[in-house]
Amino acid sequence: MAFTLITGATGGLGVAFAHAAARDGHDLILTARDGAALATLADAIRAEHPALAVEVIVSDLAQAGAADALWDHAGTLGEIDVLVNNAGLGRHGALTDTDGAPREAASIAVNITAATQLMRRAAVAMSARGAGRILNVSSAAAFVPGPNMAVYHATKAYLQMLSDSVRAELSGTGVTVTTLCPGATRTGFFEDADVSETWLMRLLPMGDATSVARAGWRGMIAGRKTVVTGWPNILIVATQRFVPRAWLAWAMQRFMAKTGR
Ligand SMILES: NC(=O)c1ccc[n+]([C@@H]2O[C@H](COP(=O)([O-])OP(=O)(O)OC[C@H]3O[C@@H](n4cnc5c(N)ncnc54)[C@H](OP(=O)(O)O)[C@@H]3O)[C@@H](O)[C@H]2O)c1
Repeated sequence: MAFTLITGATGGLGVAFAHAAARDGHDLILTARDGAALATLADAIRAEHPALAVEVIVSDLAQAGAADALWDHAGTLGEIDVLVNNAGLGRHGALTDTDGAPREAASIAVNITAATQLMRRAAVAMSARGAGRILNVSSAAAFVPGPNMAVYHATKAYLQMLSDSVRAELSGTGVTVTTLCPGATRTGFFEDADVSETWLMRLLPMGDATSVARAGWRGMIAGRKTVVTGWPNILIVATQRFVPRAWLAWAMQRFMAKTGR
């Protein structure tokens, strides 16, 4: 049996990916830390798609070795033919605000370390079989500096560059690598990262998790390199290379400031 493995399957985009994959008839392995939320989602998908196998694995990807343990556990259930590397977190605040250090360490562990190791394990297994799809959930943030969210932006820039590089390494193996780059999307991410009260959130239109995940899922199935969702983000990603980094940082610092409401 071949499964689609979705990380971060209790959050806004992860749940939407699970529904998008189920609609396309994919058997699922859903993972995150919140076992009760995973079980509820699995039950809902089984009720809607009784023919599908839906498994859950509880995993804290911020822990050392968690990505390997997750991949090994998933491998006991069947082959993974699609990996959706979606789990991620961020934090609002300056790097010098040392209270944020533990959360930033978790961001690096989940957004970079675990995502890289899952991608490596998937790439090894899939290229040996000559087929597979990897969808890495990056962000429009990957393309611009993010003062007051510096670590998060840097993790997404890392994931974007990793994906662009590994895609070339996997060329001709039958394995595709797609990045999804959403801008602000209505999920729990912003409350969780303490970004809700920023000018960015007040001024930018918010995307809808279902449409963003569907666009990413469709792009991955089509083997596209990168999917950017939402017109402001398409504009930002297309034009940022023509703007000096210092100007982008200046503008983003203002967008990322709290509104003081
Ligand atoms: N929302 C946006 O505007 C936006 C824009 C661009 C990119 N993204 C990216 O989209 C992805 C999904 O985010 P979202 O918007 O759906 O946010 P979300 O609702 O906060 O979901 C985040 C998911 O990550 C999981 N997660 C967090 N820490 C984890 C850990 N230590 N181990 C395992 N899983 C963990 C959470 O599950 P548990 O808490 O149950 O572990 C949850 O399922 C992230 O990579 C994010 O960076 C979001």
